[in-house]
Amino acid sequence: MQVYDERGIAQGLPQASRYAAASRVLHWIVAALVLVVWPAGMVIEFLAEENKTIAYLLHESFGFLILWIMLARLAVRLVRGAPAHEPMPPWQARLAGTVHVALYVALIAMPIAGFLATNAFGFPLSLFGILPIPSPVGKDAALAPIFMTIHMVLGWTILVLFLLHLGGVLLHHVFRRDATLYRII
Ligand code: HEM
Repeated sequence: MQVYDERGIAQGLPQASRYAAASRVLHWIVAALVLVVWPAGMVIEFLAEENKTIAYLLHESFGFLILWIMLARLAVRLVRGAPAHEPMPPWQARLAGTVHVALYVALIAMPIAGFLATNAFGFPLSLFGILPIPSPVGKDAALAPIFMTIHMVLGWTILVLFLLHLGGVLLHHVFRRDATLYRII
């Protein structure tokens, strides 16, 4: 059951029509982390030398957390599924579904590529400087640029996916004023 006001504008959704609570919480934690980690990755190279070490540590540690949160999200999504979506043209439902799957894949592959790259460059990750993370890859001058290139390509891919995702939010919430956004909040 949807909650529309007298002008036909969605006001919210009952629990049964929304994603599982764990999915909703993890969605916004990942969104907040990506909005910090993504720009941080872009600006590191422009920072003064004395600030780089801490910037790498924070980018890599929070980025690594995203991997585990995304795996948890994937597990919840597979077990609990998704609520039915608002009526929309089939091509839009397909596009939204494709963007969602691609975001899962990219946000899992991105930290893996970054983690392998930094190890291959010879800088093993110590999470927030306190927990050394073992790596399947050691220092390897040939592999490092390959992993880094994958990390960079995925960075731009995530930007495009994020913009498409945001476009969907604007379309539903601002223009159509349907209840789509309430499924995840
Ligand atoms: C979802 C998680 C992550 C996101 C969204 C992300 C995003 C980015 C972005 C956008 C860049 C800039 C790429 C470019 O210059 O085109 C970058 C660079 C980089 N990232 Fe990540 N990253 C993530 C996780 C990680 C992890 C887990 C590590 C390592 C443990 C890592 C290590 C690096 C390194 C070493 C650079 C190069 C920075 C430089 O020297 O300019 N990243 N990241």
